[in-house]
Amino acid sequence: MAFRYYYADRIREKMPQFKGTDEELQSAIDEISLLYNSAIRVLETRIKIISDDFDKKHSYMPIHHYQSRLKAFDSIIEKAQRYGIEDPINNLDVLKREILDIAGLRVVCNYEEDLIALSNMLLKQEDIVMIRVKDYVRNPKESGYRSLHVVVAVPVYLVNTKKMVPVEVQFRSITMDAWASLEHELRYKNKGELAQDIEDTLKDCADILHDVDERMSRVRHEVLKDENKYSDY
Ligand code: GTP
Ligand code: MG
Repeated sequence: MAFRYYYADRIREKMPQFKGTDEELQSAIDEISLLYNSAIRVLETRIKIISDDFDKKHSYMPIHHYQSRLKAFDSIIEKAQRYGIEDPINNLDVLKREILDIAGLRVVCNYEEDLIALSNMLLKQEDIVMIRVKDYVRNPKESGYRSLHVVVAVPVYLVNTKKMVPVEVQFRSITMDAWASLEHELRYKNKGELAQDIEDTLKDCADILHDVDERMSRVRHEVLKDENKYSDY
């Protein structure tokens, strides 16, 4: 994971109520980085192991790729302000409880059925706790966005304690991911605003891609059945 630089001045600007020293600020940043980076590593390993075992059992890798990210500290503070968390540095417990996407893992699967199977396998692990599910696959967003968001808490063992740390996992199929990344880029380039006809076209594209997902899945089942390789995992 890339090393991140933090700019004390830029962060202080966002929370004028914080009167502590730079050392106190740095210590809070270090605590968050350690906890959430560790949680990402734990979860990446769990996902990778499931995928490898899947490959062993079914000669098939359900994961196309995955990527992780730690939310930049100034974005965490911005979100804390939006959530009305007063003086987040001195209320790190509130911040950790309320902001569930400090650690993020995006798991891109080949087919829609894979992302459901994979998320279930992860949730079945006894020390992984489900915190929240937002099923934008069954209930796509107004924009056309589709993805399965699962916030899980994973155990992180420190020197003397175990912490349960939340990670937002976004499960997507390749087509869901392709749409989301292009749409995000367009929206971002346009400062979040898009004209209505563009919104409509993007929504259309999302629907077409959903149809492609379903058709590819049907083709897959056909091919696997013919080759006698189908297994109902
Ligand atoms: P955030 O403050 O954005 O984290 O909102 P939230 O906590 O209500 O979470 P939600 O589950 O709605 O979405 C969070 C994440 O999903 C975003 O950071 C994006 O990565 C992704 N996302 C949600 N909606 C869209 C969308 O319309 N387009 C794209 N490209 N991504 C989306
Ligand atoms: Mg988010």
